[in-house]
Amino acid sequence: MISPEVASTPASGIRAVANAAWAVPDAIHLEFGEPDFPTPPHIVEAAHAAALAGHTRYGPSAGLPALREAITAKLARDNALDGITPDRVVVSAGGVGALFSAYRTLLSAGDEILVPDPGWTNFSTLATMLGAVPRGYRLDPAANHSPDYDHLESLYGPRTKAILINSPSNPVGYQWDAEQLAAVGAWALTHNLVVISDECYDQLWLDRPAVTFSAAAPGVQFVSVYSLSKSYAMTGWRVGYAVTTPELVGGITRVQEATASCVNTMTQHAAIAALTGDQACVAQMRDAYRGRRDVALETARNLGLSATRPAGAFYLWLKSDVSTLDLLHRTGTAVAPGSAFGAEGAGHVRLSLAAAQDDIVRGLTNIATR
Ligand SMILES: Cc1ncc(COP(=O)(O)O)c(C=O)c1O
Repeated sequence: MISPEVASTPASGIRAVANAAWAVPDAIHLEFGEPDFPTPPHIVEAAHAAALAGHTRYGPSAGLPALREAITAKLARDNALDGITPDRVVVSAGGVGALFSAYRTLLSAGDEILVPDPGWTNFSTLATMLGAVPRGYRLDPAANHSPDYDHLESLYGPRTKAILINSPSNPVGYQWDAEQLAAVGAWALTHNLVVISDECYDQLWLDRPAVTFSAAAPGVQFVSVYSLSKSYAMTGWRVGYAVTTPELVGGITRVQEATASCVNTMTQHAAIAALTGDQACVAQMRDAYRGRRDVALETARNLGLSATRPAGAFYLWLKSDVSTLDLLHRTGTAVAPGSAFGAEGAGHVRLSLAAAQDDIVRGLTNIATR
């Protein structure tokens, strides 16, 4: 009864740990990447006011005009991306909604998409679910996790339609500079590929502001995917957006129309408040993640653990051959297995830094002394 595409889509390896962790009393939860901060009150109040004012009906498929306008102003303010008009923005149900629309717009059954390995699990599962084929490309840790271009070239074939990039990245936390982004864009152009640029952690840079792909690589067909989930602690609200080229925006809007109709209207009013209101909350949360990153790195070093220094996002990518289920049952510490993020993730675990500092320190100690 279940279609072969859905039946062959693997369950997330993170879920297996999370489900087991719910049964462990007082478990230390470092397996999920979810802000531990509440949504700032002025954002919650905007949704409340919108509901009371009767903004409870369907809206346009691509998003409320005022929100699409606010997004273009945010792109200019925070991403140094000028000149994007609201008609190139599609508001989506989280970043994952925009990713799905981009995949559905670009990929038919049998088509291939290049995805980073290690990379966020859904980059692959979304493709598999559509009958398309994800092909993992390796990253070179010695070159700030750039793709290995010879390897990338060897993965390219007649069915390759797109390459997905993700900076700042989940799970490794690398952040590509303008030259790295321009190089990927130039490579994509030689094969006429669309670049899907997942920038859901754009505001969670920890050392220097993240560069947006389309500013670094003009002239390439792209879909950039953003989210309010992480920057504004709004994971449960389900709001993100795609920014794309005039050639692709109609397709993305059609997918959204057929699958979601539109994003929750009250959430869209909350998103307007988030993007146009005081941005101090974003800086405060970023500062907190940076502080935890620094403590986590120092703790790992003192314990003799080998960690990648994250330049962005809120994860610690650690070399470790620990079995995550064994770690959970022996020490009550839940972390994500590296293998959940691709074949190259084997021999690693990912810890979320979106957790209390004490939990991060205790979790690292448990890994080192298990
Ligand atoms: C790299 C990346 N992209 C997209 C998402 C999707 O988040 P959301 O759909 O809540 O915006 C996540 C969530 O963990 C992520 O890590």
